[in-house]
Amino acid sequence: MSKSILITGGAGFIGCHVIQLFVTNYPEYKIVNLDALTYAGNLENLKSVEGAQNYSFEKADIQEAEALDVIFAKHQITDVIHLAAESHVDRSISDPLAFVKTNVFGTVNLLNAAKKAWAGELDQHLFYHVSTDEVYGSLHDGGFFLETTAYDPQSPYSASKAASDHFVRAYANTYKMKIVVSNCSNNYGPNQFPEKLIPLCINNIKNMKQLPVYGKGENVRDWLFVKDHARAIDIVFHKGKAGETYNIGGFNEWKNIDIVRLLCQKMDEKLGREAGTSEKLITFVQDRAGHDHRYAIDASKIQKELGWEPSLQFDEGIDITIDWYLANEEWLDHVTSGAYQEYYKELYRTD
Ligand code: NAD
Ligand code: DAU
Repeated sequence: MSKSILITGGAGFIGCHVIQLFVTNYPEYKIVNLDALTYAGNLENLKSVEGAQNYSFEKADIQEAEALDVIFAKHQITDVIHLAAESHVDRSISDPLAFVKTNVFGTVNLLNAAKKAWAGELDQHLFYHVSTDEVYGSLHDGGFFLETTAYDPQSPYSASKAASDHFVRAYANTYKMKIVVSNCSNNYGPNQFPEKLIPLCINNIKNMKQLPVYGKGENVRDWLFVKDHARAIDIVFHKGKAGETYNIGGFNEWKNIDIVRLLCQKMDEKLGREAGTSEKLITFVQDRAGHDHRYAIDASKIQKELGWEPSLQFDEGIDITIDWYLANEEWLDHVTSGAYQEYYKELYRTD
């Protein structure tokens, strides 16, 4: 039987790269993108595939159980890759309930819809849940997150993702649903909403606006190019063992301040500005509440067992990313107009 895959959150940052990869590489599959089109979802991200025979879009909210049942029946869904989520830590600090509603309640709704649609043949269908390394908590200066690391979420966002991971595993244990979970480190690349560190800095450098660095900029993140995450999702979907968890990461740790400086140097060159111009925009601001110190993924399980590894060096990936944002001014203008301006003023207390 050919597959009819429901990909949730496909109009968002990572989802659009997953959709593009699956629609292009698997013409025999039917790919259904389910997305509520929140502030973070944008159909402009999917222009390259919107006319493809094997692609369709359903505007729906995973909080609405009935809508999910209709979509499962209409498209005879055989498998799910679940990415839809509220994804920004700062927003989770100001509105935790929104994260419970989508990330926890919405995920359980989706599990229920799949369980209902696949009743009697749960072992023949896969529910793939895409999660984050933040569920493991915060590291000091040594050590890595393994698949066996105990969960210790520290923000409302990571608590909601941890809860959703637990529900997915509980459905495997209780109802014998076939599931797989992956937990990935920080992604960067084209199409990321400019509230996240890298695109926010690119946009602000371009416009000669302040670069807000939380605390002393000493926090460490482990960065992976988004298309390498999409490739990993493809491999886990096709080759991952049911019931397993796979950590995904680039073995690429950076202090925030060093990334911001790198972006300044590269953009001065690309924009023909005098060296040092953009660094003057760096502004140390009040730290994020409960700011996790360091994330670092040990991705050796997926490397050894499934043969995945990152394809891009960070330097190359950052160049591609900056060039994409400079070439896609219209995209940036669209997503940063209106409500985003209000959010930005409120969070950073600027005019
Ligand atoms: P994003 O915020 O860019 O996109 C989320 C998408 O989900 C948007 O298109 C939005 O419209 C949609 N959505 C939100 N609420 C919805 C709802 N109730 N019903 C239907 N659709 C809804 O997020 P992202 O950065 O692409 O992350 C995708 C997934 O990957 C998330 O589950 C996130 O936790 C996980 N993840 C992200 C990263 C990262 O660095 N960005 C790293 C690891 C894991
Ligand atoms: O680790 C995976 C996670 O990475 C994903 O699960 C999340 O969905 C994704 O948003 C990301 O979370 P972070 O909080 O690490 O990403 P963000 O880009 O918001 O911040 C990266 C680091 O930069 C973090 O230490 C906070 C800091 N920062 C962020 C912003 C927006 C700043 O110093 N200034 C800023 O303005």
